[in-house]
Formats: sequence, C-alpha cells, structure tokens
Amino acid sequence: MKRLGILISGRGSNFLAIARSIAEGRLQDTDIAIVISNVADAHGLAAAKELGLPTALFSSRGRNRRDHDADVAACLREHNVDLVCLAGYMRLLSPEFISAFHNRILNIHPSLLPAFPGLEAQHQAFDYGCKVAGCTVHFVDEHLDSGVIVLQRAIPILDEDDAHSLAFKILIEEHIAFTEAIARVLSGEYEIEGRRYVRKKPA
Ligand code: GAR
Repeated sequence: MKRLGILISGRGSNFLAIARSIAEGRLQDTDIAIVISNVADAHGLAAAKELGLPTALFSSRGRNRRDHDADVAACLREHNVDLVCLAGYMRLLSPEFISAFHNRILNIHPSLLPAFPGLEAQHQAFDYGCKVAGCTVHFVDEHLDSGVIVLQRAIPILDEDDAHSLAFKILIEEHIAFTEAIARVLSGEYEIEGRRYVRKKPA
C-alpha cells in the first residue's frame, strides 16, 4: 500500500478528487495517510475530517519557513508517507523540505508550464489572450513551478469564455490530471531523463 501525504491551504477540491479516485478504485493500493493544512479554516481540512481521514494543522502565520516546514516534514515521516501531494498548498517550501523528499513531492499548477508560473495562472493565461490553457502536475524542485513535468492536460479557450469559466474548466482537468500523475509516479514504470518524465524502457 502506498501512502499519500496531502498538503492544502484552502478549498481542497483537488484533495477531494484524489480521495474520490481512491474510493472509486481509480487509484489502487493507495491510501491517504495524512491531510495537512497550513490554514486553520481551510475548507479542505474540514472536509478531510468529515471523511474520517487523519488531519493535522500547522498554522504558518508568522512562522519562519524552515521551522514550519520541519514540523510538516516530521508529521509526514511519522505517517510513513511515500509521496507528498501539494493540492492547492499556497506556500513556498524550504530547500530543506524539498531535499528531504527529493522527487517525492508533486504539485498541481493551473497553467501549461512553463507559461504563467505563480499566482492566478488561469487569469494570467486569459488576460494574455491565449487560445489554449490547461494544468500541469510536476515534481517540486527548489525553484517556483519549475520541476520536471509528470503530465499536462490542455483545453481550448473559447471566445465565450471569461476568466471564471476558464478557471472552472481548468479545475475539471486538474482533478483528472492529479490522479493520473499519482498513478504514474507510484507505478514505478516511469523515470526522469534530464527534464523528461518517460516510461522506462524494457531492460
Ligand atoms: C488549484 O487551481 C490549484 O491548481 C491552484 O490552487 C487551486 C487550489 O484549489 N494551485 C496553485 O495555483 C499553486 N501555484 P483546490 O484547493 O480546490 O484544490
């Protein structure tokens, strides 16, 4: 059984999509070991409790990044987590945290990286006038939204879209993408080659 540690800061719809994928058998031999929030009133935290999942709150307000992340890392280790999933975790991670979980942290970002890193990526793509948008699941490295890409899903931006309809359509793709990316990583069938995440060649 592979054990996921999920980090959230807000709504938690990506976390709930992962939980649904496990419940409905799209992610097999996988458990959510712990859901951690850095925000006390995150909706996702309440939702995790309602589902009866183990939860932890490490409020990051006013805390030094290194100390906060050390607490989160200790909690993830206590729960024997194999893979850390940043599901709307709106806080940069310390270098110590990233190296402690080297190539074991996935993040979901609502743009086709490397376009539009940072905040409000869906709005950035809309305002830029892009004709295609989407989401990216990637490994986390020491730079912002820059690690090796596990997978992306793209959608067209239509004339009738506005920034809100676009964000909603991207979110639907995110919910599919995160499950697929987790399955791909946990399968052990892929490897990192330079910047590319590719299926392992038969020996
Ligand atoms: C999602 O759109 C996710 O891609 C984004 O925050 C939202 C969280 O929603 N993350 C980032 O922008 C990270 N840079 P959720 O709490 O409902 O999953």
